[in-house]
Formats: sequence, structure tokens, C-alpha cells
Amino acid sequence: MRCAAHTRRRIELRTLMASLALLATALLSGCGEPSGDSTSNAQPAANPSVSEAAMAKWSRSCVLCHVNGEGGAPRVGHPEEWLGRIEQGETVLLTHTIEGYKRMPPLGYCMDCEAEDFEALIRFMAHGS
Ligand code: HEC
Repeated sequence: MRCAAHTRRRIELRTLMASLALLATALLSGCGEPSGDSTSNAQPAANPSVSEAAMAKWSRSCVLCHVNGEGGAPRVGHPEEWLGRIEQGETVLLTHTIEGYKRMPPLGYCMDCEAEDFEALIRFMAHGS
């Protein structure tokens, strides 16, 4: 019994990760623009520099606002929206994420994120890696 339940959970997680990878690829590749850039990396899996665990956290917190630009949130896959923010430095961005900033809620709804998760997710959203 326990084994079966465990296996099912693993499969659900795998499905989630697969759809996330697809979503991230779609977001990062831009809307229907032909990519003539031969150096662009066609990674089949989720971004390798962000752990699966961190991406799972991202998918149930940051994604709520940082995909559609909810409340003016800078969007993932739109580096230009992050430029002015990156200039503040990583420490400020991390502090604003943990303490909240204007309409950005404290911890970005990720209650179980560690500081290194936030760092990886901020880098992922701002730089795409
Ligand atoms: C409820 C919506 C919401 C969620 C969830 C959310 N954010 Fe945000 N975030 C915002 C908004 C809105 C802003 C823009 C705030 C402003 O400058 O007005 C923002 C801004 C930011 C900034 C830039 C702060 C600065 O100093 O310019 C970072 C970094 C950030 N979010 C990281 C995250 C991370 C990491 C997560 C997930 C762990 C997350 N956010 C989840 C709404 C959200």
C-alpha cells in the first residue's frame, strides 16, 4: 500500500516537472519568434542551474505573479523588466524577496524556501539561468 502511494506521488511529481520544463521553454523562447540563434541551448529538461526542488517551489509561489506580471511584477523571460532591479544588487533583491517590497509579498508565498532557493530563483527569473 505505502509503496503504491509513494510511486504515484513520484509519477505526479515527474509529470509536474515535465510540464514545468515545457512552460519554461515556451516562456524563454519568446512568442513565436523564429530562433535563428544557433548558439541558443535547446535543453530538453528544466534549467540545469536551478535544482528540481527549487523549481518545484517556484511553480507554486513565484509563478503566480511573475509569469503574468501580476501587480506589476517583473516577468520571467523578459530580461528588460529586470534590468533596473538587477542594478540594485543581489543583496537588495534577496532582502526585498524575504521581507517583501511594495506589492511583492514577504517570501513570495514560498514558506519553505531557503535563502539559496531564493537566490537561484531570482537569478533564474532575472537572467533565465
Ligand atoms: C503575489 C504576487 C507575487 C508573488 C507570489 C511573488 N512576487 Fe515577486 N514581486 C511581485 C511584485 C508585484 C513585484 C514588483 C514590486 C514593485 O516593485 O512594485 C515583485 C518583485 C520581485 C522582485 C524585485 C524586487 C526589487 O527590489 O525590485 C524579486 C527579486 C522578486 N519579486 C522575487 C520573487 C520570488 C523569488 C518569488 C517566489 C519565491 C516571488 N517574487 C513571488 C509579486 C509577487
